[in-house]
Amino acid sequence: MTHSHFAELLDLDADVLHEYHHDLIDWIGSLTPDRPLVVDLGAGTGTGALALARRLPDARVVAVDVSEPMLEHLRNKARELGVADRIRTVQADLDESWPALGPADLVWASASLHHMADPGHALAQVRATLRPGGLLAVAELDSFPRFLPDEAGAALEERCHAVLAEIRAEAGLHMNEDWGVRLAGAGFTVEAERRFDIDLRPPLPAAAGRYAQVSFQRTRHRLEGRLDADDLAALDTITAGLLDRDDLTVQATRTVWLARRPG
Ligand SMILES: C[S@@+](CC[C@H](N)C(=O)[O-])C[C@H]1O[C@@H](n2cnc3c(N)ncnc32)[C@H](O)[C@@H]1O
Repeated sequence: MTHSHFAELLDLDADVLHEYHHDLIDWIGSLTPDRPLVVDLGAGTGTGALALARRLPDARVVAVDVSEPMLEHLRNKARELGVADRIRTVQADLDESWPALGPADLVWASASLHHMADPGHALAQVRATLRPGGLLAVAELDSFPRFLPDEAGAALEERCHAVLAEIRAEAGLHMNEDWGVRLAGAGFTVEAERRFDIDLRPPLPAAAGRYAQVSFQRTRHRLEGRLDADDLAALDTITAGLLDRDDLTVQATRTVWLARRPG
């Protein structure tokens, strides 16, 4: 998948799941001190960094990502939203040694820690980046969204998800981890674990169809050679017709852990 497709997917995620993102930002934003320094790890197109900058008008935000094109996309959005003067971007591979980013009041890591080759190393660096008493918010996907409401479509989607889970496990991605256990092991005090069950039903805005389409397209090449040929053909037909459907749902679960560096 090209950078622009991945960036579009992240922006569609922010758009279609805006209620979840709003509730989450509002909750975490309410816990930060005045004039906080916020660090967004694996910031992508800036869903978290930009929303936190808007929710916290006196915050300074550092958005970190390995991908310079993502950061450029983020900076353009920050200018459009009038928050560019409070957002700094840092290009860094968080699997390597970290640049100085703190001392942060809040470290935000949404759908990014599972990408880290060594989450233990990343969490030790997060701890060093936070001021004593500072907060870490980790948001992770329990799985990718499901969109198809009909029985045959849902069963096909289920088979795709099973194959994708195998591929992620083989690649060593840290999805479906108990981050609460990892956080405690890294010396954080875990203060909350909250599950967000997202269940959007029709009528949905047009962006939901495109969100489904880009999500399916993103996984298509990974399924090649792993999913039955008839299933692949059915998936292609469904993907091509997604923008014309008015029966799509969006079902997903996200879990958020809130942890504190002891003071
Ligand atoms: C699934 S996206 C999540 C983006 C954003 N946090 C959000 O919630 O929409 C994961 C992001 O982590 C970044 N990333 C992956 N591995 C990384 C690494 N080793 N160092 C820094 N960023 C990384 C990717 O470039 C991507 O932008």
